[in-house]
Amino acid sequence: MASDFTVFLGEMMRNPFEVSAIAPSSAAVARKMTEGVEHVTGPIVEIGPGTGSFTKEILRRGVSPDRLILMELNPRFCDELRQKFPGVHVINRPAQDIEQIGVENLGCVISGVPVLARPQIQKEVVGRAFNVLAPEGIFVQITYSPNAPIPEDVQARMGITGTKRGTVWANLPPARVFEFRRKFQ
Ligand SMILES: C[S@@+](CC[C@H](N)C(=O)[O-])C[C@H]1O[C@@H](n2cnc3c(N)ncnc32)[C@H](O)[C@@H]1O
Repeated sequence: MASDFTVFLGEMMRNPFEVSAIAPSSAAVARKMTEGVEHVTGPIVEIGPGTGSFTKEILRRGVSPDRLILMELNPRFCDELRQKFPGVHVINRPAQDIEQIGVENLGCVISGVPVLARPQIQKEVVGRAFNVLAPEGIFVQITYSPNAPIPEDVQARMGITGTKRGTVWANLPPARVFEFRRKFQ
């Protein structure tokens, strides 16, 4: 089987706009993205899992495979994910369809989908995810920008608020992890 890096690079060259990174995220980013996921109740959806860097860490933290749903646009990545993670639900559909896959009261959405500077995707992906997240549910997003990947005015319109969980310098490129929650008045 080809390495994750080889598969990732091949798909990035075929679909640069969708894949948007030259290599899978490092183990350090995966740890930061999945921090605390072992304490979450309810189903967990990972969107844009690629070759499964975050998936591996979610499972390592003790989440049972049948609670985990992966939504990935790229069919080649879906094949890899099904082989690597038996028992995990892998859905070859865009994250924009999250309201149509029969989930509700999600504990957490973990996102590798590039949302930065794409207002339409912010609305369709993040907005719809909050429609199926539990009241206390969390949306975790990776970004390569030092700033929040969803501008504050967009957060306010969606009724959510974001905080930076941390920066991981040991990644190519350095990555930031933000978490978003509903803003309760
Ligand atoms: C930057 S890669 C991140 C992959 C992986 N999470 C990681 O960090 O190594 C972005 C991933 O999101 C997927 N993707 C892009 N747009 C998507 C969408 N609308 N819905 C689902 N997956 C999407 C791409 O195919 C790719 O696997």
